[in-house]
Amino acid sequence: MKILAIETSCDETGVALVESSGVFPELSFAVRGNALYSQAKIHEQYGGVFPNIARREHARTLIPLTRIALKEAGLFIEARLEIRDAKAAAVRDILKKEEGLLTEMLPFLGNMEKPAIDAIAVTQGPGLEPALWVGISYAQALAEAWEVPLIPANHMEGHLLSSLVQDGNLRGVKLPALALLISGGHTEFVLMKDWLSYEMLGSTLDDAAGEAFDKVARILGLPYPGGPQISRLAESAREKGVRPSLSLPRPMLHSKNLDFSFSGLKTAALYATQEKEFLAERDKEELALEFENAVADTLTAKAKKALAESGAQTFVLGGGVAANTHIRRQLKKMIETEFPDVSIRFPEPKDTGDNAVMIGIAALCHIEKRGFGSYHRIAAEGNLSF
Ligand code: KG4
Ligand code: ZN
Repeated sequence: MKILAIETSCDETGVALVESSGVFPELSFAVRGNALYSQAKIHEQYGGVFPNIARREHARTLIPLTRIALKEAGLFIEARLEIRDAKAAAVRDILKKEEGLLTEMLPFLGNMEKPAIDAIAVTQGPGLEPALWVGISYAQALAEAWEVPLIPANHMEGHLLSSLVQDGNLRGVKLPALALLISGGHTEFVLMKDWLSYEMLGSTLDDAAGEAFDKVARILGLPYPGGPQISRLAESAREKGVRPSLSLPRPMLHSKNLDFSFSGLKTAALYATQEKEFLAERDKEELALEFENAVADTLTAKAKKALAESGAQTFVLGGGVAANTHIRRQLKKMIETEFPDVSIRFPEPKDTGDNAVMIGIAALCHIEKRGFGSYHRIAAEGNLSF
């Protein structure tokens, strides 16, 4: 089964062609085409993602990225196509609120043959609604023009399932699987008891882990997105044997539940910097190190509790923050020592950020398990949950 997947929930525009084979859940996946455009540089000047700028950039780049992904997959066949009036009218109607896309769409469709795909998948949520809408409208217009089914995908489920895939397949995954999803908007434990059936075990009460990384980076005058910057500073301090002279809280370490809270940690980091008149490079390193240690300690302690309580057989890490070297190292050490029978699935650091492959994987799992469904109209759901 071949699927064209589209991701526009935040500041990455992704278009990918993913192919599945095998019988669910023993599926294998091959990425036939993958085009990704990051808007991070544009949002950097604002210190965060501006929804309407994200939307405009998605609209500007979706068609070129689709062309790239299709070409990479060998599915772009140039042709002069007559688009029937009724079809053109339907496409225009779907894209009437996305002017930037509308002017390019009909010439694009008229210049190629319908690609050999079985369906189109698109992120329905969670995410920034203006950004989600442009991807959804675009996907809907393509599905209409090419007469293929449209499948909505949950972005967080995409992080989860794509992280569970190892060496291109889902073979040998033992359930229940406990997922720790850590991204810019979410920090949560999700238990997959049975395939594609989830229970939320805990989540952040305020800031997400990635958000805390981004905010602390801003305090230190580092550009957006701050996670990789903090991580680089902290790792280099660790290598030099720096011992932080400040101590930050490990929030909710002893609470009875599996929830998180990172906003107090961020405020403590802010106060720590306000005590100094001037932040020397060494102060920044110490703060980055202590902050990263505090986040890693908290995530690791909670993961231990979640593994013990859930009896999970697999631990999977997903989301943008899953690229963090120290967090990976701490979690791995704890699981190998305390839960040697639990199998660990960490995504490759290069696959942790938002992309369309993960949306394709989530959608293919649903199609292979339950069929295409019939989603005629999809509405963006900014707060979509499991
Ligand atoms: O999943 P993602 O790409 O987008 C969302 O769905 O939110 O996650 C982005 C978040 C940002 O907050 C970014 O700073 C953080 O992931 N991040 C990191 C690292 N790489 C990205 N945080 C800590 N360490 C990293 N190496
Ligand atoms: Zn994400």
